[in-house]
Amino acid sequence: SKILVLHGPNLNLLGTREPEVYGRDTLADIDRRLVEQGKRAGVGVSTFQSNAEVALIERIHAAKSDETAVIVFNPAAFTHTSIALRDALAAVGVPFIEVHLSNVHAREPFRKHSYFSDLAIGVVAGFGAKSYELALEAAISRLTGNKN
Ligand code: DQA
Repeated sequence: SKILVLHGPNLNLLGTREPEVYGRDTLADIDRRLVEQGKRAGVGVSTFQSNAEVALIERIHAAKSDETAVIVFNPAAFTHTSIALRDALAAVGVPFIEVHLSNVHAREPFRKHSYFSDLAIGVVAGFGAKSYELALEAAISRLTGNKN
């Protein structure tokens, strides 16, 4: 079994994109650390980013048959807009953890609503790149049988 880390739109710009909100790590930095974290736990971690809703939907569909056990997902702006991505996750039934770098509850009101949180195992927000590491730790614990 393995873990898929999915990143939504504009996250390819991490490092230079509003660094005061999202930090200075690039997406490549974050992905490299997550793959390492998986290796240390003996769990395969793959990563995928797209700015396109259709590509994210198709990657989620593929997760149904490629042995993905858990998805760690930062839907980015699609968090607040995408019924189609929500429906994709519901359709494949692969459990997922929702991640945000920023504390979406401390920002504009339109960021408070998520189409994903009620279906997620849990939500991690507000810890910058560390949000992904905490979510991955939780995903790994589920797979390796440690309670979390
Ligand atoms: C984000 C928060 C979203 O509101 C925003 O649209 C993003 C990134 C985060 O990681 O903090 O693109 O998901």
